Amino acid sequence: MSPNKSHWLQKVSSAQNNQELSNIYDNWSQEYDESVLSFGYNPPAVINGLVGRFIQSTDANILDAGVGTGMVGELLSILGYTNLVGIDLSLGMLESARKKQVYQDLRQMVLGQPLDFTDNAFDAVVSAGTFSANHAPPESFDEFMRIVKPQGLIIVAIRVDIASYIDSIRAKINTLEKEGWCQLVEHSKPFQNIPLVSERATIEAFVYRVLCG
Ligand SMILES: C[S@@+](CC[C@H](N)C(=O)[O-])C[C@H]1O[C@@H](n2cnc3c(N)ncnc32)[C@H](O)[C@@H]1O
Repeated sequence: MSPNKSHWLQKVSSAQNNQELSNIYDNWSQEYDESVLSFGYNPPAVINGLVGRFIQSTDANILDAGVGTGMVGELLSILGYTNLVGIDLSLGMLESARKKQVYQDLRQMVLGQPLDFTDNAFDAVVSAGTFSANHAPPESFDEFMRIVKPQGLIIVAIRVDIASYIDSIRAKINTLEKEGWCQLVEHSKPFQNIPLVSERATIEAFVYRVLCG
C-alpha cells in the first residue's frame, strides 16, 4: 500500500469504537472524495450497476446506508433515481453529502442499532464501503429486514478478505435466510475495491430480496 495515500485508511482501520470512527470520518470528510478517487475506489459504480439491473422504477424509495459523502447517490441521480435517503454515523460526511443536493433526507443514525424508520419504509437499501471490519456490524441486517418492504431489495458491497468480518456477516445472513427473511438473488465476482493502493482489500456485491416484513 502506498504510504502517502494510505494514512486515512490506516486511521479508519485502527478506530476502536463508533465515536473514534465518526471523528476520523468527520476529519476526512472534506477531502474524502479526492482521496478515494485516487485509490481507484469503485464500489459506488458497482452498486449503481446493480440498482440499474434490478430496480426499474426511478421513483423507488432507496436508503443509502452509510451514505458517506454521497458518492452512490451522485451516480444514482445521474441515472434518474430521485427518491434517495441517506444515513451515516458521521455528521461531517453527512454535511459533505448534503452539498451534492441529491438526497431528499440525510440523517445521523448508527447501523447495528435501531433505526428511526417505520416498518416497510423503503423499496431498497443500498450500501457501498460500509460493510467492513469496525464499520457496520452483522446486526445491521436485522433492521434492513424490518424497514425494507416485502419483495424489496438489499444491494450491498461487503468486504470479504477479512475472515472474522465476513464469517460474522455470513452467519447472520445464513440465519436470516433459514428463517425465511430474505434470499440471495445475485452476487458479483470478488473484486479489489481500492486497486491503486491495496492488492488485498477485496469486496463482493450482493443482492438480497426481502421476503417478509
Ligand atoms: C468508506 S465510507 C463509504 C461511504 C460511501 N458509501 C461511499 O461509498 O463513498 C464508510 C462510511 O460508513 C460510515 N459508517 C461506518 N460505520 C457506520 C455505522 N455503524 N453506522 C452508520 N454509518 C457508519 C462512515 O461514517 C463512513 O461515512
